[in-house]
Amino acid sequence: MKLSMTLNGEPFAAEIGSDAMLVDVLRLNQFTGTKEGCGVGVCGACTVLVNNGPVSSCIYLAVMAEGAEVWTVEGLTSKDSDLLNAFVEKEGMQCGICTPGQVVSCYALGIENPSANEEEIREFMAGNLCRCTGYVTITESVRTYLDSK
Ligand code: FES
Ligand code: FES
Repeated sequence: MKLSMTLNGEPFAAEIGSDAMLVDVLRLNQFTGTKEGCGVGVCGACTVLVNNGPVSSCIYLAVMAEGAEVWTVEGLTSKDSDLLNAFVEKEGMQCGICTPGQVVSCYALGIENPSANEEEIREFMAGNLCRCTGYVTITESVRTYLDSK
């Protein structure tokens, strides 16, 4: 079957299986910034935006994105340089697995609640697991990004 959607601001179409997950469609089409960690909707590494809301693309059927506006970490960091700058400045990243999802969720919080306090940031980002930094620098990175808005 054919999937048509807007991906990072551009028209996108691909032949997909009816059971294909969005993360696999993205990665097979060179959008490898989106990572698969747990594969079962728990870790947040595969987070992308669908119609401005964060979803776990490892458990999101690609067919559900038909006609949707999808943004991955590549597109978001290209259109908003403050996003990566905040994570670099506050050293919110260590590995390449969790960080893309953290960055996408950070952007999503900027849409939903740009004046979020620390507790609200931690609550919003709770679905993005990190096994190496702890969450202090990630929270500071998100704070820095929100302050730039
Ligand atoms: S890889 Fe999707 S939530 Fe972990
Ligand atoms: S920086 Fe990726 S798991 Fe912590």
